[in-house]
Amino acid sequence: MQQNTRSSSVKIREAGLKDLAEMQRLERMCFDIEAFSKFQLRYLVTTPTGISLAAEIDGKFAGFIIGIINRNRYGTYGRIYTLDVDTGFRGKGTGTELTRALLERFKASGCEKCFLEVREDNDCAIALYHKLGFENKHIIPHYYAEGIHAIKMRKDL
Ligand SMILES: CC(C)(COP(=O)(O)OP(=O)(O)OC[C@H]1O[C@@H](n2cnc3c(N)ncnc32)[C@H](O)[C@@H]1OP(=O)(O)O)[C@@H](O)C(=O)NCCC(=O)NCCS
Repeated sequence: MQQNTRSSSVKIREAGLKDLAEMQRLERMCFDIEAFSKFQLRYLVTTPTGISLAAEIDGKFAGFIIGIINRNRYGTYGRIYTLDVDTGFRGKGTGTELTRALLERFKASGCEKCFLEVREDNDCAIALYHKLGFENKHIIPHYYAEGIHAIKMRKDL
């Protein structure tokens, strides 16, 4: 799948195991202690109900997003596990387009809502998610580490 964005050269495509090295590079660039390891990324990318999307700008790996579809007795919902944009490509709408594309996939797969966790001091990501219609549900104390709390967010699809 490809789609035009604010920056006309941003392309969103399916991501897979061949992108693992770039994903790990961006996890290290984007996150601190909460970064997923290569092993964890491999698990997320290969999970049968997972959706992994990559953003390319001028042929370069600029970002990615991974979500998983969960089905239980309460219904079907999507959960966003990670969203990473290379520091050199930020502010071009890439994070927005990756998230929108994943939400579309979730909806097309029957998800009624989407959940995510974000560090409570991550103003940039919080602004992005609010812009896309996510609402704060509650704080999860010490989610990432002692004293580093998460906001649980939800969006109805
Ligand atoms: C959060 C992140 C994915 C945003 O990526 P991006 O491609 O720069 O985002 P966009 O260009 O689509 O901007 C989307 C919105 O984010 C917010 N935003 C972007 N840069 C911002 C900044 N420097 N300060 C505050 N808000 C900012 C704005 O609301 C912006 O919307 P607007 O341009 O309409 O005002 C990117 O900064 C990143 O990878 N951060 C590190 C990893 C991370 O925090 N991931 C999310 C974890 S849950």
